[in-house]
Amino acid sequence: MSFRRSGLLAVTLPGLLLLAACGSNPSAEQTTATAPAADSTSTKAAAMPTSASFGKALDGTEIQLFTLTNKQGAKAAITNYAGTLVSLMMPDKDGKMGDVVLGFDSVSDYQSPAFRKANPYIGALIGRYGNRIAKGKFTLDGKQYQLPTNNGANSLHGGKTGYDQRIWEATPGTSAEGQTLTLKYLSKDGEEGYPGNLQITVVYTLTDANALQIDYTATTDKATVVNLTNHAYFNLSHGVSKDILAHKVTIPADRYTVVDADLIPTGELRPVKGTPFDFTTPHAIGERIAQVPGGYDHNWVLNNTTGQHSAATVYDPASGRTMEVTTDQPGIQFYTGNFLDGTLKGKGGTVYGKHAGFCLETQHFPDSPNQPKFPSTVLKPGETYHTVSTYTFGVRK
Ligand code: BGC
Repeated sequence: MSFRRSGLLAVTLPGLLLLAACGSNPSAEQTTATAPAADSTSTKAAAMPTSASFGKALDGTEIQLFTLTNKQGAKAAITNYAGTLVSLMMPDKDGKMGDVVLGFDSVSDYQSPAFRKANPYIGALIGRYGNRIAKGKFTLDGKQYQLPTNNGANSLHGGKTGYDQRIWEATPGTSAEGQTLTLKYLSKDGEEGYPGNLQITVVYTLTDANALQIDYTATTDKATVVNLTNHAYFNLSHGVSKDILAHKVTIPADRYTVVDADLIPTGELRPVKGTPFDFTTPHAIGERIAQVPGGYDHNWVLNNTTGQHSAATVYDPASGRTMEVTTDQPGIQFYTGNFLDGTLKGKGGTVYGKHAGFCLETQHFPDSPNQPKFPSTVLKPGETYHTVSTYTFGVRK
């Protein structure tokens, strides 16, 4: 767990008023607030993210979609439902903007029976514990906790109603790096079986260098376990190619965590050398995927664990887009959308079939609460959980 401070938290400019948009047309941008000069020395204040209605959640809450824009015209659309990254517009090798993540047109698509049944967590913030906890059980300070199980006999991504189904309090703003969206959520003591009131702040920043940075902070009033991440599915040639099998991936990791048939780590960190898990040099996702039963859905043990380090790079020959993932976390879950089966239709009616997108979830290792040799995920009162992951886009001609 990282307790480093990056000093990048968003600052909401004084005197700034967000006009809440509550209309029914999800595509209409209803608010364009420009910040007034913060003081007499400021010449021009940065423009604020815009906000539009994203429809009504099942409980009747009006949900918003915030759009962050940078100086290059890149855009990130994020909703306060689950803090979901809904779309991310980045240029291809010809400078043409295209959406590089999977997502849906309104909040009702994320709450539909079909979405709930498939449970793909598309674009959502994940917690309190990203990935699996075996049998939903762990012991902390001598006390055993039993979480509700939601993935066979195990707990996955925070349980039955994880952070991927919560409504977050959202505040748009700006920082020195670019436009921001600050999301807050109080995960109450006992929610989904976890001990401690966990106060969480997540700040998305879209920088002018075409990077989407996600900054997570959390504090607790009782010892607990925490492993927060984001579950975006990327497809850098979204619109050109239906699947991600031609994308070339590099992961600077000499080992991965071996899992059993239920995707629970056995505790073994196995060398990738000579296996289809070796991404220390670039390989197309589809090149060896047939040798991995079910497809890639594993945690890689990153070689470098100090400071911000590279966790993965991706190159899509069709669009020329590249993506680099950096993080302070020790692991990354590389998941190739193996469970997408074409039942969900996303933005503009796009069918999301098997391997339509891939996830690169920066994280601590799955089931760490039951694996004393894995880096600890325990957070105690008085400590601050703080971690930053950045997805930086570029092109190769
Ligand atoms: C997990 C997969 C799971 C998927 C849900 C991934 O993070 O590793 O096993 O099916 O999330 O979409």
